[in-house]
Amino acid sequence: MRFVSQDWMFLSVALVLFIPVSQCSSAASENNVKTAVFLSPKIELTPGFISNKMYYDVEFPKGHVAIKSFQAELVDESGKSVPLQQTYLHHWIVLKYQQPKNVSNKSQTGIIMERNSGMCQGEILDQYYGLGAETRGTNSNIPDPYGVEIGNPSNILEGYDEKWMINVHAIDTRGVEDRMGCIECKCDLYNVTINALTGKPLSPSYKGGLGCCPDNAQCRLRKDFWGPKNVLYLKYTIKWVNWDEFVVPVKIYILDVTDHLKISYKSTGMSIQHTCKVEYQVKPCKKSHVGSSGCVDVNRASVPIKTGGYVIYSVGHQHVGAIRSTLYGQDGRVICNSFPKYGTGMEAGNEKGYVVGMSTCYPKPGSVKLFDGEILTVEALYNNSIERTGVMGHFYILVAEKLPHHHV
Ligand SMILES: *[C@@H]1O[C@H](CO)[C@@H](O)[C@H](O)[C@H]1NC(C)=O
Ligand SMILES: *[C@@H]1O[C@H](CO)[C@@H](O)[C@H](O)[C@H]1NC(C)=O
Ligand SMILES: *[C@@H]1O[C@H](CO)[C@@H](O)[C@H](O)[C@H]1NC(C)=O
Ligand SMILES: *[C@@H]1O[C@H](CO)[C@@H](O)[C@H](O)[C@H]1NC(C)=O
Repeated sequence: MRFVSQDWMFLSVALVLFIPVSQCSSAASENNVKTAVFLSPKIELTPGFISNKMYYDVEFPKGHVAIKSFQAELVDESGKSVPLQQTYLHHWIVLKYQQPKNVSNKSQTGIIMERNSGMCQGEILDQYYGLGAETRGTNSNIPDPYGVEIGNPSNILEGYDEKWMINVHAIDTRGVEDRMGCIECKCDLYNVTINALTGKPLSPSYKGGLGCCPDNAQCRLRKDFWGPKNVLYLKYTIKWVNWDEFVVPVKIYILDVTDHLKISYKSTGMSIQHTCKVEYQVKPCKKSHVGSSGCVDVNRASVPIKTGGYVIYSVGHQHVGAIRSTLYGQDGRVICNSFPKYGTGMEAGNEKGYVVGMSTCYPKPGSVKLFDGEILTVEALYNNSIERTGVMGHFYILVAEKLPHHHV
């Protein structure tokens, strides 16, 4: 294995010093691994407010390359990490698209979104990368010789360029009445009457989630609280290598615990409809059970993977209240257990009561094989001693369809 952790630590220290107050990039290379630190456009937030914006044509490594890791976090104008108690990073996602060459660079005219390899359909969980509050404490390195292939000229349409878009959803919780309620997007805390997901008036049964957390909504503040406007950036650090014949590509799949398949039979054959809702509500357990080991909400979904391969990396994504998430193979074997790590302090990366990391799985390449059509089950466990809204249970897996020659 060609790991460069020490060089990489040195590089990141050197690069941090270069972060100016606007978008920037800088690249360095060691053992062919290049590293660049980029900043999103600026994100302006006043207390209680949400910023949920799409940034088109963001900076990204150019050319035919293999991405080896993608880390991200919110920083302020001086480049300092912003703790979650101040600004909660609900999620960031990175999407790939193709853009006609004859339109201006940030334009959306004529763009074609390109989703990952599965499992949902359409523009749901179609990102290449994405995490939330746990981003600082979650490893995203892909071991050699594997990588996420991008910029392959033969996959780019004639007359188009490959581009990248980032969506950042951040919630400023300075001075709010109920910090945990605000980060769970509880409807009764926000000045929202229309469900942002459906465009329809809020229904009383919808207690919270992305529908109540649109851009520019405000979570209720404590009386008389005032705070200044903050300017933040999503700082993202990408490691990559140039593409060559020795790199083995991995495919990206995201499973969602709300994906309960609708199967229909037509004359043309069986059709499978995914129902990914991205998030869900957890009902509280009986009051008499609170504090006991019985207050656990278990949610599961089973979906087939069309083309199998070897699992190289996997990680769950969950919110506060998470106990664990697990990915199972069709025979019930555990492919990965991913556990949340809760912070214990005040500082960025260790915020008390928040999920500050998710454990990852790196099976020895070749040891975890998925067969074509294998039905995978994703399971998410939450502590339901209280009601929770807008929780998630996703599993992100990287699958190599072949192993490098020297392994066979
Ligand atoms: C770009 O080219 C396409 C295809 O030739 C054409 O349909 C479209 O109108 C052009 N757009 C602009 C903004 O020139
Ligand atoms: C627009 O995007 C193209 C393709 O990525 C790039 O070559 C060009 O320099 C960009 N133009 C501007 C003005 O940023
Ligand atoms: C919420 O209130 C703020 C402050 O009054 C306002 O600027 C914002 O547009 C409101 N948001 C929604 C979604 O109504
Ligand atoms: C759930 O959280 C409550 C309150 O923090 C705690 O008392 C209980 O032990 C937890 N239950 C489980 C199963 O983790």
